[in-house]
Amino acid sequence: MWVVDPREFADKALDAGKSVVVSGDEYIVVSHAEAVAVAHDPERFSSRVSAHLQIPNGLDGHEHATARALVDSYLASERVSRFLPQFHAAAQQVLDGASAPVGATDIGELARLYAVRAMQGWLQWPEHLTQRLLDWIQDNDRARVSGDRQWTKRVAEEFDAIIRIAVAEAPEGSETHLLATGHGLSHEEVVSILRNWTAGDLGSMARCIEVIAVAFANAPELQDRVRVILKPGEHGGQREFEAIADEILRNDNPFVSNRRVTTCPVDFGQTHIPQGTRVHIHWTGANRDPKVFEGFDPQGHAKDNLVWGTGPHYCPGKALSMAELRAFWTEALARCEVVAVDEDGARLEGVRSANGGWERSPARLVRRKTGGE
Ligand code: HEM
Repeated sequence: MWVVDPREFADKALDAGKSVVVSGDEYIVVSHAEAVAVAHDPERFSSRVSAHLQIPNGLDGHEHATARALVDSYLASERVSRFLPQFHAAAQQVLDGASAPVGATDIGELARLYAVRAMQGWLQWPEHLTQRLLDWIQDNDRARVSGDRQWTKRVAEEFDAIIRIAVAEAPEGSETHLLATGHGLSHEEVVSILRNWTAGDLGSMARCIEVIAVAFANAPELQDRVRVILKPGEHGGQREFEAIADEILRNDNPFVSNRRVTTCPVDFGQTHIPQGTRVHIHWTGANRDPKVFEGFDPQGHAKDNLVWGTGPHYCPGKALSMAELRAFWTEALARCEVVAVDEDGARLEGVRSANGGWERSPARLVRRKTGGE
């Protein structure tokens, strides 16, 4: 696999006119049209890529559709909107607890804490798991880029152990309890569903916040516009915020790729892919394909945006993610400015992450003197 900045990797391939990059015996699809074609062709590009139970993302066809109906019911927009107060409370708590009252705040640390607390608000996972989940996010990020299978396995086992505790302690009536008791699912199935709702997505949510922070730091007028449309207490502006967030995330995707496996030999332009081959849909690349996208255009690019995937496995968590992002930025922009410079006015240097977005983002939060506290 590639252990480089995914944007750089994809841009280089796209500049060279490539749609597919061959890496050992794996194929990485970086162009938009081809990524869409793969995602919409589950018969030739199956999602059964792992021996482990993965509900719904490792399923195809009828089995997948049945699992999706269940997952979609929990993640429907009206249902997740009920948790907006918890998301706002989580954002207020992490922002007001942030260490420096008028100075620098590490967005990465804050974003991870928010991602964990918002998820705990939604699924009612116990507070004593907070630190364990925070440690897990960082360990998982490092293990993923290390290529060390033993480490990845240990990290996966740790997450399963966390889920088992959360299920055992789930309060009656919570989403975790309803999922675990209301559908006749086996314990393994419950763990698999919860893993797909939380494991990768805690990290993705934190990365989304950092990517958006960097965009705001570099474009103060965009930041001001979003501050206006998200003013606390006002409910308009949701669609405009989502279009802007989608466009920022398209440019620097926090969710780099997904795997498929070919069920038969496939000819893809000049590329012949044998049966049984691992194929990666490189969303980061597809979302930056210059044949489709040019400049910053939230409305114009919306129909081609692939941040949330496309086809039968399209992300069911988009409404939840957007609700969490909206709550976070509503509270953050009311209290803080996002800036791209340090206390002395020198430009911050960021470090890119091989998982997408930033390992350390070149942006920080500074309390507004006239903020909404
Ligand atoms: C935070 C940003 C997120 C991004 C950028 C993102 C992106 C994606 C993408 C691109 C896919 C398509 C996968 C594929 O085609 O194989 C996907 C699938 C999925 N996402 Fe998300 N996601 C995010 C958050 C979430 C959240 C918060 C949840 C649930 C709580 C979630 C649940 C899922 C599930 C269950 C699938 C598999 C769907 C299926 O296989 O039918 N995602 N996501």
